[in-house]
Amino acid sequence: MFFKYLSVPARPDEDFFTYIFCRAEKDRFIMCGIVGYTGSRQAASVLFDALSSLEYRGYDSAGISLFTDAGIATIKSQGRLQNLVEKMQQAQPAAASCGIGHTRWATHGEPSDLNAHPHATEKLSLVHNGIIENYQQLRQKLTMQGYTFLSRTDTEVAAKLLDSLYEGDPIAAICKAQTLLEGSFAFAILFADQPQTVYAVRRGSPLIAAMGKQESFVASDVPAILPYTRDYILLEEGQVAAVSPGNVEIYNAEGEPVAFELHTATWSVEQAQKGGYDYFMRKEICEQPEALLHTIHPRIADGLPSFEQDGIPDAFWKGFNRISIVACGTAMHAGMVGRILIERLARIPVECDIASEFRYRNPILTKDTLVLLISQSGETADTLAALRLARQCGATTLAVVNVTGSSIAREADYVIHTYAGPEIAVASTKAYSVQLSVMYMVAFKLAVASGQLTADQCRTLTASLLQAVDATKQALALDAEIEGYVKRYKTLKDLFFLGRGLDYALSMEGSLKLKEISYIHCEAYAAGELKHGTISLITENVPVVAVATQQALLAKTVSNIKEVRSRGADVLLICKEGFDIDPEVYGKRLELPALDDLFMPLPGVVVLQLIAYHTAVLRGCDVDKPRNLAKSVTVE
Ligand code: M6R
Repeated sequence: MFFKYLSVPARPDEDFFTYIFCRAEKDRFIMCGIVGYTGSRQAASVLFDALSSLEYRGYDSAGISLFTDAGIATIKSQGRLQNLVEKMQQAQPAAASCGIGHTRWATHGEPSDLNAHPHATEKLSLVHNGIIENYQQLRQKLTMQGYTFLSRTDTEVAAKLLDSLYEGDPIAAICKAQTLLEGSFAFAILFADQPQTVYAVRRGSPLIAAMGKQESFVASDVPAILPYTRDYILLEEGQVAAVSPGNVEIYNAEGEPVAFELHTATWSVEQAQKGGYDYFMRKEICEQPEALLHTIHPRIADGLPSFEQDGIPDAFWKGFNRISIVACGTAMHAGMVGRILIERLARIPVECDIASEFRYRNPILTKDTLVLLISQSGETADTLAALRLARQCGATTLAVVNVTGSSIAREADYVIHTYAGPEIAVASTKAYSVQLSVMYMVAFKLAVASGQLTADQCRTLTASLLQAVDATKQALALDAEIEGYVKRYKTLKDLFFLGRGLDYALSMEGSLKLKEISYIHCEAYAAGELKHGTISLITENVPVVAVATQQALLAKTVSNIKEVRSRGADVLLICKEGFDIDPEVYGKRLELPALDDLFMPLPGVVVLQLIAYHTAVLRGCDVDKPRNLAKSVTVE
C-alpha cells in the first residue's frame, strides 16, 4: 500500500484525525522540511501531506501550528510522524485552514519534544530550516531583555528575536530580523494577529511559494505542493513572502514589493510517489534506464554530445588547464569516476575533492581552472560554499544538479541539469547514474576540444554510452539472484569492497550505499592497497565484494582477490561477461554485460545498489529513511 497524495480531503469538515492516523499507520510515512498552508482545506491534512513528501529532509521530530479560532495551537513531538499523529489525536485541536509545519534534522539541541519546531511566543509561531550562527549572542541579548528560553535551539532564539521586533507590521519585523541574523534560514511564520496569512523568508536555505485556486503555500521543495498546484515561485535570497488564500506577495529584503516569475513544475505527482514499489529506493533504482535517457538524449546532436541547450557553447570546453571536481557523498563518488574519465580521455589533470575538505585546503584555483560541482539537491552547504570560494578565486564554475532553481544551480556560472526526476529515498541511486552520464559527456567534450578525440571517435563513444544505458536494464534483471545471495548478509558485521581504477571508484559508492542503509560496517579498498595493512582484518567472517570489470587490470585484481580468498573471505565477484577467472577465487559470480571497460560503472552500480537494497530489507532496516541522515544536508 502506498499513500495517495491526491486523496487529501478537500472538505474542512472531514475527520482529518482519522484520515491522518490511518494514512500514517498504513504508510509509516515520516515528515521533514518546512511548509505553510492557507486556503479552504483542512490545514492539518495539507500540512501532513506536504511534510510526508518532504520526508527526505530529516525526521528527528515533527510539529505543526494551526491558526484556530482560539488562536495558534502548536503540537510537536520527537521522532516520526506517528508520534505526532498520536499527540494530535489526544490534543484534538480545533479545525483550521491555515498553518505551518516542520520536520527536523537535529543540529542545535538533541531530537526532543522541546527542541522540535514550531517555536512559538504569544505573538507568533515559527518553523526554520537552516542554522543561525550568532544565536548565542542573540540569546544573551534577548535574555537581558527579559526573554526566557525553553529549548536549546537556535530557532527559538530566532522566534524570540522576531517577537521582540514585531510591532504589528510582519514584513518590517522580518526584514529587521534578517539584518540581525547570521547564518542560513528559511522560516515560515504565523503571526497571532494576522489570521489566514503565512509569512516566509529565505536566506541560504531553499524556499518556494505557490498559488492554487483560493489557496496558497510555502514549502522547502516542489513535491510538497504538487498535489495542489504546479505554479510556484522560487524565492530569491532575502526575499519575504506573504501568502493568503489564492494570493502571494513578494518583498525584497528592504520590505519593498517586487515582481516575481511564476514557474511551472514538470514533475508529476506519480513521479514523487512510490508507484506501487515497497520503497522509494527500489523505485528509483528501477527508474535509472529512463532517467539516463532523459538526461542524455536531449544532449546529443549529430551523434555527438552537445550542451548548447544548457547555454554552454562548444568553445567553452577549450583552454582549461586544470579541473577540480568538488562534491559530497555519492555525488563525490560520481566525481571520482569523472576524474578518471576526463584524465583518460582528455589528458587534462583533474582533482576530485570532498567539498568540506576542499574549502579548507586553500586550493590553487586560477581563471584557467574549471571547478565542476556535482549535487543532486543543489543545496548541499559544503558544495555551495566550495562554489562560492571557486567564484571568488576567479575560476569558472560548472554545476551538475538535479533540482532546478536550487542554490547551486543559481549561483554557478554554468549549469547542466540532470533529469532524474525527484529522488526521495535518502540513499542516492538514480541521481548518481545520471551524474555519471554527464561525466561521460563532459569527458567526451573536453577530449574533442583538447584534440585528444576526433569527432568520429567521439560519436563511437557516445553510441557506447547509449548501449551502457541498455546494460543497466540487464543489470536490473539480476535482482532476484542478488536478493537470494545476500541472505547470508543478514547478521553480518563487516564487509570489504575491492576494485582497481574505475572499479575502485565504483566500490566506494557500493560501500557507502550498503553501510548507509543496512548499517553493516564496510569499506571500499583499492584492491592493491589492502595488503599494506588492512588485510589483517580479513577473516572467514568478513566477506568481500570484488568488482573486476576492467580488462586491463584484470590479472592484478584477480591476484588481490586470491589474497583475500586464501584468508577465508567469502567472495562475491562482479565481473564482465566472458571474463576468464579461476572459479576457485570466488564463491559467487555475477556477470555484467560486456561493454567497453570505460562504461562498466553504469551497469555495475545497479548491482551494488541492489546488494545494498536487498541486504537492508532483509535486516529490517528503514530503507528510505536510514537513521541519523537527511537527504539534503544544508549544514556545514
Ligand atoms: O544533494 P547532494 O548530491 O549534494 O548530496 C550530497 C550527499 O549528501 C549525498 O550524495 C549522500 O551522500 C547520499 N544521499 C548518499 O546516498
